[in-house]
Amino acid sequence: MTTAAKKTPVVLIAAGPTREKLDPVRFISNYSTGTFGYELAYEAIRRGAHVILVSGPTNLKAPQGVKLIGVETALEMRRAVLAELRKADYIIMSAAVCDWRLEKVAPRKIKRSSGKTTLRLIENPDILSEVCAHKAHRVVVGFALETENLEKNALKKLFRKNADLIVANALRKQSPIFGDNNVNVVIIDRFGNRLRVRNRSKRDLSKIILDKVLSFNI
Ligand code: CTP
Repeated sequence: MTTAAKKTPVVLIAAGPTREKLDPVRFISNYSTGTFGYELAYEAIRRGAHVILVSGPTNLKAPQGVKLIGVETALEMRRAVLAELRKADYIIMSAAVCDWRLEKVAPRKIKRSSGKTTLRLIENPDILSEVCAHKAHRVVVGFALETENLEKNALKKLFRKNADLIVANALRKQSPIFGDNNVNVVIIDRFGNRLRVRNRSKRDLSKIILDKVLSFNI
């Protein structure tokens, strides 16, 4: 009797912040450290998956064996994620994508002038929504960072973006989630099942999230 060889799962993870350039020496960004995405990448590698890590700028070391694609802006992240999408079985959008970019990046350093400056921002594309629009049989996981109505807002986001699972983080006043070690999350799937996990490290949470993701039936 022959046993069919099990296919190695391919996990595509987008991690870290994006940076949106103002001029050759400045950018706008956010406080994301990329820790969650990198922990997920380490855990997926430990489980024998092929991992494609599309990462914004971080100080973290990527695990050996991942295909690391470094990006800076949201548009670069979008391009890389959409280019790798077909190869993936599971897509995890843990990146803190900047929602806006400068309408025009100044070719030279912006000089101080009259005491006031206005920056014109335009919205970046929603990468997670685009991924979900082309996901076919793939399992797609989004993250939601909320300051209020955590579960209600996360559930809305899950359906609005058409993801399969969403990991909702509450941004706490005392200890911000970005770079924070122990966090509370709620993992909600598109059937409405909720798993609340309190005060766990991002390493532990990565194990719990991957258990959920890799066993997800679509
Ligand atoms: N996301 C994305 N592209 C964007 C913004 C967010 O792919 N331009 C993804 C994030 O990686 C995350 C999910 O969407 O998986 C939710 O991100 P979040 O910042 O919480 O939500 P937004 O869609 O930006 O909504 P809002 O900021 O209004 O809460």
